[in-house]
Amino acid sequence: MDYDKALDSAIQRLHDEGRYRTFIDIERRKGQFPHAVWRKPDGTEKDITVWCGNDYLGMGQHPAVLSAMHEALDATGAGSGGTRNISGTTLYHRRLEAEIADLHAKEAALVFSSAYVANDATLSTLPKLFPGLIIYSDALNHASMIEGVRRNGGAKRIFRHNDVAHLRELIAADDPAAPKLIAFESIYSMDGDFGPIREICDLAEEVGALTYLDEVHAVGMYGPRGAGVAERDGQMARVDIINATLGKAFGVFGGYIAASAKMVDAIRSYAPGFIFTTSLPPVVAAGAAASIAFLKTAEGQALRDKQQLHAQILKMRLKGLGLPIIDHGTHIVPVHVGDPIHCKMLSDMLLDQFGIYVQPINFPTVPRGTERLRFTPSPVHESSQIDAVVKAMDRLWQHCALNRAEVSA
Ligand SMILES: Cc1ncc(COP(=O)(O)O)c(C=O)c1O
Repeated sequence: MDYDKALDSAIQRLHDEGRYRTFIDIERRKGQFPHAVWRKPDGTEKDITVWCGNDYLGMGQHPAVLSAMHEALDATGAGSGGTRNISGTTLYHRRLEAEIADLHAKEAALVFSSAYVANDATLSTLPKLFPGLIIYSDALNHASMIEGVRRNGGAKRIFRHNDVAHLRELIAADDPAAPKLIAFESIYSMDGDFGPIREICDLAEEVGALTYLDEVHAVGMYGPRGAGVAERDGQMARVDIINATLGKAFGVFGGYIAASAKMVDAIRSYAPGFIFTTSLPPVVAAGAAASIAFLKTAEGQALRDKQQLHAQILKMRLKGLGLPIIDHGTHIVPVHVGDPIHCKMLSDMLLDQFGIYVQPINFPTVPRGTERLRFTPSPVHESSQIDAVVKAMDRLWQHCALNRAEVSA
């Protein structure tokens, strides 16, 4: 085989479809986020404002987080030096898991390298623990859940997105005695819509199924202590396994599950994605624990309130310009473009001409034809920066509409 030729043609296919991904080299500056510097391929620099990050609350530069990390770095050094089983469990890991268990009012928690790994490792391990398990998975679940369900060798059913009636039909067609688990998200990050947590928990109770909820885009952001949408809606105790990340609103890195002590003990003991990998550096565990602790407080609530306000303002103003905003009442602001080439063009022009960085979102992250720009306002975006986005989008949207009209004429 001509391996080079095969690689060339695989890459070319992406260029032809307009969805070849270009990484932008940005340098975040502590204390200045969402300001950053873009290092261009020609070696020059440009000041930019980041509008597509998932450090939703700016915790990646928060003094409480940074000082915990400095302390841990000075006390322990760089890495953990082992898997959790072989010398890689430290007091920092223990404290982090206790902080997470307390956040979700569960008996225990288990930290993984990322929420991707936590989803994949947990969902692919559950059929080993519950032979004959059928997993019912929402059609728009994140790739990490899809991978975990796909790889586990057990039975799976995909229910239409957020369609509890369809879920009920699928369950009714299966053996009532079979063990069952329903896997879904509290916030679907690309459309920014909520999952029907209460209705799914009701159904799960009725049919004796376990529930598995990904709160990756909700932790830190919703609920009086930042535990997520299930906390906000009084449903947290009804969810058997909660999954989330330490890398988005908590601003650090890593992922976890929170559940009963028995469930956590079993996953800890059987999941290869947990067992056979180096544990998080203690410094990361320390920063994440500090961030969670901070976001449980009234000061954390003030950040959540400001973030929601900024999201509402941005949505209202973009809607006022007549832009197609997908608005389901969450903190995410997606602008539907519907074409990969136009989406990339808009993103490039925002960056080049206005210093506004919002990465185009293309297939396979979203279905073809639903390409979009996904803005993520934070409490640290200032009014002047919101003004700048609104003005730039107004100018560029008109330009692109003219351009499209000319192309189709
Ligand atoms: C819904 C959902 N689950 C899980 C993940 C993985 O999170 P992490 O970045 O911690 O791997 C993501 C990442 O974007 C996500 O959107």
